[in-house]
Amino acid sequence: MSLRLLRPDDWHLHLRDGAKLTSTVAHTANQFGRALVMPNLKPPVITLAQAAGYRERILAARPAGNRFEPLMALYLTDNSDAKEVAAVKQSDFALAYKLYPAGATTNSDAGVTGIEKVYGVLAEMEKHGVPLCVHGEETDHHVDIFDREKVFIDRTLIPTLKRFPGLKVVFEHITTKDAAEFVRDSEHQVAATITAHHLLYNRNAIFQGGIRPHYYCLPVLKREHHRAALLDAATSGNARFFLGTDSAPHAVHTKEASCGCAGCYTAHAAVELYAEAFASVGKLDRLEGFSSLFGSDWYGVARPTEYVHLHQEEWQVPARYAFGSDEIVPLRAGEALRYKLVG
Ligand code: DOR
Ligand code: ZN
Repeated sequence: MSLRLLRPDDWHLHLRDGAKLTSTVAHTANQFGRALVMPNLKPPVITLAQAAGYRERILAARPAGNRFEPLMALYLTDNSDAKEVAAVKQSDFALAYKLYPAGATTNSDAGVTGIEKVYGVLAEMEKHGVPLCVHGEETDHHVDIFDREKVFIDRTLIPTLKRFPGLKVVFEHITTKDAAEFVRDSEHQVAATITAHHLLYNRNAIFQGGIRPHYYCLPVLKREHHRAALLDAATSGNARFFLGTDSAPHAVHTKEASCGCAGCYTAHAAVELYAEAFASVGKLDRLEGFSSLFGSDWYGVARPTEYVHLHQEEWQVPARYAFGSDEIVPLRAGEALRYKLVG
């Protein structure tokens, strides 16, 4: 079996910086034509000038001859400059702002401490049609970690969309039936990215025979009925749902630790992992829309024109990959995958 597919784009990706880019960019650039690169570096990528610099470093890390195109998201802070929104709209490489509620996840300390702090920026984004990518989790630690996405919808997302009804929002890496239904039914311009790991695994994966840090990410994996709802949404053909891996590399010693970092690394085999999920419900024919068309349509950029091929071919994922001077453990390390992306 071989499936021809327009080259996919990854609408949610972490590449990190410095020497680590050599490893992460190569994996992503092998598979994807473009990726929306997340700005949660230390320090974060807040301004257009910082995004331009980061983009240059990513471009310099591409394998020889590769034409991978990084697109940038700017990190929204309480002090982001509303006057810069128009310039973001004009730029040909920055596509969106990313809202990290402060304290929600990795490198979110500089994030937004209250949504009202960024009303000025959101008003400009609504006016200029610049999308807001949202890490949609309530940060109130009294809220159970498995309920934080649902509570975020009620406490933050719905009121924000009421105030800015024309704002384009991408609900990033959704993990619940609640979020999938919210996006499907919203009267607003709301879309969502879905990761491969949230399509393939439920929360049992984190605790299978012991604690498994490489399945720990944020938002955390949820119950099986949520996974099933996400798979339904991804394979439904609804153009509001598209591919965003949230591939998030962390050096092995920072994951296998008493307080391990959140993030699953999937860039080494992202499209193969999505293919496995789609094939599990007999919907491989729906993969191309999700992986290669709906995201570019939503962001208003050109559709891909090159093709890749997915072969049904078993291969073994290495136990580790280099990650700058460290190593990472990829998802499915040492295990077999059933598809191989070629070209
Ligand atoms: O699991 C995650 N890892 N979730 C995030 O929101 C951030 C990411 C990272 O940057 O490591
Ligand atoms: Zn992310």
